[in-house]
Amino acid sequence: MPKFQRVKGMRDFLPSEASKLRHVEAATREIASLFGFEEIVTPIVERYDLLTAKSGEEIKSRMYVFNDLGGRRVALRPEFTASVARLMATSLRNEPKPLRLFSTGTLYRYDEPQFGRYREFWQSNFEIFGSDRPEADTDILSLTSDLMQKLGVKRFWLKIGHVGILRGLLTEEDVEEQQQNEVLQLMDSKRWENALQKAESLGVSADGISALKRIFRIEGKDGRKILQDTKTMLKDYSIAVSAAENLEQILDLYIQGKIGAEMIIEPRFARGLEYYTGMIFEVLVPEMDISLGGGGRYDKLVEMFGGEPTPAVGVAHGLDRISLALEEQGGLFEVSKQLVFIIPICDEVLHKALEVAKQLRKEGYNVNMEIMGRSVSRALQDAEKREANFAVIIGPREVAEGKVMLRNLTTRQQNLVDLQELPAMLLKK
Ligand code: HAM
Repeated sequence: MPKFQRVKGMRDFLPSEASKLRHVEAATREIASLFGFEEIVTPIVERYDLLTAKSGEEIKSRMYVFNDLGGRRVALRPEFTASVARLMATSLRNEPKPLRLFSTGTLYRYDEPQFGRYREFWQSNFEIFGSDRPEADTDILSLTSDLMQKLGVKRFWLKIGHVGILRGLLTEEDVEEQQQNEVLQLMDSKRWENALQKAESLGVSADGISALKRIFRIEGKDGRKILQDTKTMLKDYSIAVSAAENLEQILDLYIQGKIGAEMIIEPRFARGLEYYTGMIFEVLVPEMDISLGGGGRYDKLVEMFGGEPTPAVGVAHGLDRISLALEEQGGLFEVSKQLVFIIPICDEVLHKALEVAKQLRKEGYNVNMEIMGRSVSRALQDAEKREANFAVIIGPREVAEGKVMLRNLTTRQQNLVDLQELPAMLLKK
């Protein structure tokens, strides 16, 4: 029995898993720079009251909370948004807007471990601050669509809604914000009947309940029609109608701008986080019933944290779940590296082997060297097992002639090449 085991819900990433994770992460970084986002790094430990201010009951009940040795109540971050909004209210307060900020790293939620649900997981997080215009919302949808396509997620769609539709109706029915949250939480977990009962108990009128029931039944790909129907059903609730109009503008831009990904409009859609004030969305694939990403507009959070009124919209993608989706869909992880394996035949040429390794690394090749003193055939077996592309075999006679033996490990052909020409020869092969 081993002495120490992993903590439940935590994972180790062995080399092949770690390289997949880093491959997905690298794609998110590339998207960040393609869309003009700058990276920031924030701490994993934050104040408990910051993280719970507007996160919602669901996340709140699943946080890793503790008192540090100074007696401060702190928690491991369950998401990035609160930390980034804290910065907007403090250090970044006076930066010219818009500001596009990217982060990536681990998050912690005490979820019940199961397929795609971990207690430590990875996100790439994108936030745009300073614009309340629909093109900012569309930008977030667009980068999400590009990321999925770039990584080769074959079938995915965006489920899109707008919290203003439901909150608008409830506000005009005089339901307080805190009580609205209770209704929305039930809707987030798709307990439609319970949500209706709750709304009724909070004093929503018979007309309001019947409008909600109708809203609960509509969703579809034809976004313009769905939103037209939504406006008709909610015509007596002007806040809800303007929310639907705002979503129409975002969709129009998305369609006219030929952004790409398929989408489903769902006016009843609610998300667990309480800070959202506008468009909300999730990324879904047919093979899984959990989202690969989620986000939306939250125009009040920075102000709530003591900053200037700052409109904001963002998204977080679950890197672990994207990896899982790629595996489920049989997508290829293209972990492309040209690996060169250097094999010194005897100790006398070790110095030359080190020299060649240094030279090739300088040229940008990934180089591994035989360091166990094994025979050439054993070292070649090892190189093949490690999926190296080439072996460079170095012996005293070859060195004396200024040459090395270059072996292509795919075709198994080998020939003597001039040491000077080695980098160029690797390129040609
Ligand atoms: P969220 O929907 O809570 O949103 O999380 C975003 C993504 O993180 C999910 O779609 C999922 O892929 C991944 N995720 C969440 N929980 C887990 C878990 N236990 N295991 C594995 N993956 C998980 C947010 O976090 C918001 N901060 C997004 C946002 C940014 N909204 C505006 N800006």
